[in-house]
Order: sequence, then C-alpha cells, then structure tokens
Amino acid sequence: MTSSEVQEQVNEYYDECQVDYSMMWGTNDHLSMHFGYHDDENRRLKDAVINLTRVIADRADISEGDRVLDAGCGVGGSAVWLARERGARVDGVNINEMQVEKARRGAAERGVDDRVAFHVADYTEVPFDDGSFDVVWAVESVCHTDDERAFLREAKRVLKDDGVLVVADGFLGKERDEMTDDENEGVDAMLEGMAAPSLATVEEFRRSLVDEGFRGVGFENKYESVYPSARRIYLMTLATYPVAALLRLLGVRSETQTKHLSAAYHQYRMLKKGVWVHGLFYARS
Ligand SMILES: C[S@@+](CC[C@H](N)C(=O)[O-])C[C@H]1O[C@@H](n2cnc3c(N)ncnc32)[C@H](O)[C@@H]1O
Repeated sequence: MTSSEVQEQVNEYYDECQVDYSMMWGTNDHLSMHFGYHDDENRRLKDAVINLTRVIADRADISEGDRVLDAGCGVGGSAVWLARERGARVDGVNINEMQVEKARRGAAERGVDDRVAFHVADYTEVPFDDGSFDVVWAVESVCHTDDERAFLREAKRVLKDDGVLVVADGFLGKERDEMTDDENEGVDAMLEGMAAPSLATVEEFRRSLVDEGFRGVGFENKYESVYPSARRIYLMTLATYPVAALLRLLGVRSETQTKHLSAAYHQYRMLKKGVWVHGLFYARS
C-alpha cells in the first residue's frame, strides 16, 4: 500500500468509528483516544486516561513554556492537558480533519486555545522548522504508519538538540514466523480493524530509534497499566456484538465499524498471550 492509501484507510476508520470512541470511551469528555494507564489510584477509565498523560509528561519532564509536538493528536486530549497542567505550548498534527476541528473546539471550550494549535498534517512531514520542539509526543498514533522510520526522522529533525521523544504504542511481542496460526489471524484482525498497516516488534522499533540517531533509548512494558482497558474493551464488545451485527445486517453500521469490533475482541486475547505489548519508548535526539 502507498502511504496515501494507508492514510485514506486511517481517515475512513476514524470518520466511521469516532462514534464508538464517543459512546464507549467517553472521548467527548476527556478528549482522549488511548488505553490509559491504570494503577491503584487510577482505577476508573476517566482517571486512567489522564494518568497516562501525566506519567508520560513526567517521563518527558515537560514544564512551563516547553514546546511540544503532539504527533497524531486525535481530538486534542494530551495537548489540552499539557497546556493546562504543565503550561506547555503544544502543536498537534493529525491527518483527520474532523478530529482537528473537534480538537480546536475542545481547546477553545477549555480556555487553552492561546497555548495550543492544531494542524491538518502528516507526522512524517510536519510544517515546522528544524529544531523547533523540546518534546515530540506520540500516543497510539505511530501504529498507523508502515514507515515508522519516516516518522522518527521527522521527529529528529524538528527536535532541538537533546530534545525528548516519547512514543506510547502497541508493538509486536514476537516475530510473525514465531506466531501460531491463531496468533497470526488474531493480529491480522486486530490490525485491519484498527487501520494499522503493520506493527514493529519492540526490538525492531528500538533498532530504528538507534539507527535514526536517538540516544538513551529506553522502553517500559505497560501491560499491567493497560490490561483493565483491554479487558473493558473486550467485554463491551461481547455485550454489544449481537446488536452491532444486527445493525450491520440492516445496513446501519458499516463494514469498517464491524471490523473495529472484531479488533476490539482480538486485541485482548492477543495482549494476554504476549503477542503484542503496549509499551512506552523514550529517547533523546
Ligand atoms: C488512536 S488515535 C490517538 C490520538 C491521541 N494521540 C490520543 O492519545 O488521544 C491515533 C491518531 O493518529 C492520527 N494519525 C494517524 N496517522 C497519522 C499521520 N500519518 N499523521 C498524523 N496523524 C496521524 C489519527 O488520525 C488519530 O488521530
């Protein structure tokens, strides 16, 4: 697939599945579209999604006045939080126009539109000068490209010297040829339903970071932190599947929306088997 075909699929997925995020994930309230990080103090989903942003902001050491690029910003949850809670200036880029509009509205409603700006742009080719940012932030967005090196090169270009890159995302836990047939099928269904063309293994992504010149590369496996959300998505899918299947038969729900539910089912099974991991990479430019 060419990169424009990949982006077309990503846009179709979000245009059609945003309704699922709004209804099942509470995205209209917290503006976030990720698994969140649960811990003893953050057991509820709405707290876990904020906690992920806080944990990553601490890891990237974001403070007052830092300039942050939110690569694949969704509807702006991280950008708004970073501006409000850390006093950062954030530019969010996203190829999905509908989400960019929502992000702009969300930031204005929360009174931070003087510190955040959202742009329709591809994170492999952003409209910013070299060395513009203290931090490049990518949460569950790099999974949507099959050229993560292009993303890493662009992140390196726009980071200041010794700037920080944080990438929280899914990565394969083993090579495809080490997987059973069931695991390969589960991963295929998961990737197709979430408009992710492919996933790098943890080791491939680590190698890419080093090859692209990043230093101090670290990785944390966030299995415990995302497990409650993965299970929640799975259980919600089991509960709603009969109605969703009927709506599909009636032509009310689309094929893309149906595949999204199938992905929601398989992601949990595959996470438990260690076929994919949810992890946090960090590195310096
Ligand atoms: C799962 S959402 C995560 C959104 C946000 N980072 C969050 O944590 O709420 C992935 C986002 O990446 C965006 N995206 C995918 N491919 C992109 C690309 N090539 N350039 C910019 N954004 C992209 C999607 O449109 C979507 O908004």
